[in-house]
Amino acid sequence: MRSEPTGVEERSPVNLPRLAEMKAAGEPIVMVTAYDYPSARVAEEAGADIVLVGDTAAMVVLGYPGTEAVSMDEMVMLGRAVRRGLRAPLMVGDMPMGSYEATNELAVQSAQRLVKETGCQVVKLEAGGTSVERARAIIRAGIPVMGHVGLTPQSATALGGYKTQGKTVQSAIQLCEDALALQSVGCFAIVFEAVPAAIAEAIAEKLEVPTIGIGAGPATAGQVLVFHDLLGITTGRLPKFVKRYADVHGEMVDGVRRYVEEVRSRHFPEPDHVYGVEPAELDEFRRYLDQESLSSAKAWDWEPLP
Ligand code: KIV
Repeated sequence: MRSEPTGVEERSPVNLPRLAEMKAAGEPIVMVTAYDYPSARVAEEAGADIVLVGDTAAMVVLGYPGTEAVSMDEMVMLGRAVRRGLRAPLMVGDMPMGSYEATNELAVQSAQRLVKETGCQVVKLEAGGTSVERARAIIRAGIPVMGHVGLTPQSATALGGYKTQGKTVQSAIQLCEDALALQSVGCFAIVFEAVPAAIAEAIAEKLEVPTIGIGAGPATAGQVLVFHDLLGITTGRLPKFVKRYADVHGEMVDGVRRYVEEVRSRHFPEPDHVYGVEPAELDEFRRYLDQESLSSAKAWDWEPLP
């Protein structure tokens, strides 16, 4: 059953100038992921500024072991559902692994597909290096790009696993150079993932564009968390940077368990959950069922096809 939007306060749509304004005013930018219609509705009603259809969908929604496996077709399907649930937040489409690294042409085509087919307004891609060139090409094609540095899950294997980045001078310099390069080609914001707070703060001071942190401390212009992690839908061990605001998985298991028990104990359905019929209609229907001819009728009366 589809729930209709309820009690949503009309907000002005969040656009890129508004994000720049928020950073300038020191007003924290709130970003959260969403992967379907209900999670988009929740993000909308809770007042998020930016909603990212993240490739973390691979893990938290589709059950893959990492983000590498998710395809463009899957991201498009999820993004279309998110679009139907969003009004005010800026919608970011995450470019899945394999959709942009090889050439600028591929990057532009993939970004255009995400925008045209999902209705996202901007895209995000991971890492510095060649991604800087890809970001430049996409921006020149008219699509705004959000960068993503630090722990970039699509290259987790190359980074030695899901590890904090920027802990040594050399790696902090690399991070800073990547962020500056992404800014210089026109990225409107940059995600910093799993970076020591002091390093993120120092780099953020050198940047004009807003930084959005996930495990990067309090000094970034905004914060992002994965919807399923913050609500406790994800089970098992979570990264240090996640704060759980609810235990939705526990609530869901509890609800379904009570349903299972009530069906088995015949406490569900209750009178409130059943449809009635006029007694006269029921009596006549019973007389129809009681006919001799009906009870003696052959179940199958057919000729085999030639
Ligand atoms: O895919 C994602 O959810 C992300 C966030 C963790 C920033 O990239």
